[in-house]
Amino acid sequence: MSETESMHSGIVPPQGVWWKNVPPQEKVWITIAFVWCMILFAMMPVWHIRGGQNPSGIRHKVDPAAFLERTERFVEEYKIGEESGIPVVEPPPGSHVYLVGRMWQWYPVLKLKKGVEYTLHLSSIDVNHGFALFPVNINFQVIPGYDYGLKITPNQSGDFRIICNEFCGIGHHMMVGKVLVVD
Ligand code: CUA
Repeated sequence: MSETESMHSGIVPPQGVWWKNVPPQEKVWITIAFVWCMILFAMMPVWHIRGGQNPSGIRHKVDPAAFLERTERFVEEYKIGEESGIPVVEPPPGSHVYLVGRMWQWYPVLKLKKGVEYTLHLSSIDVNHGFALFPVNINFQVIPGYDYGLKITPNQSGDFRIICNEFCGIGHHMMVGKVLVVD
């Protein structure tokens, strides 16, 4: 064998082995890989239906102006005070709660009861915002034109902040809202 024949380079292609039988170990590994592919493939629909990542509520299209109007009515009905010019609203247990994300404010401030279920309607009236509840790790995309009715049951009392985690313009960093949960 000359030196050029033994070198496996792009210039001198290696000798083919395609006519030889696949060794048994390789067959085993191909089988394992194939079965695993099928499991992962099946997980996609299974996880979509059973997965804990799915929002628990309803979703439908909404006109941003109509959503704001509905929120204003909600605020008028259950307003109990004001904090830095933003109304504080205490809805009755089990009711529909409306929260608007807009440049650069979460409106209104919510006062909720611990251990009671509410339907939280979240939407934006201008651009995308990100609902992030601190210090607990709850995140949700808030998109104009969509009303997300999330079934929520506050399980901790305290004073929570809503941070916007989706860049929404010059005042993004000042977009902080508030949720109070009482026992
Ligand atoms: Cu709203 Cu960033």
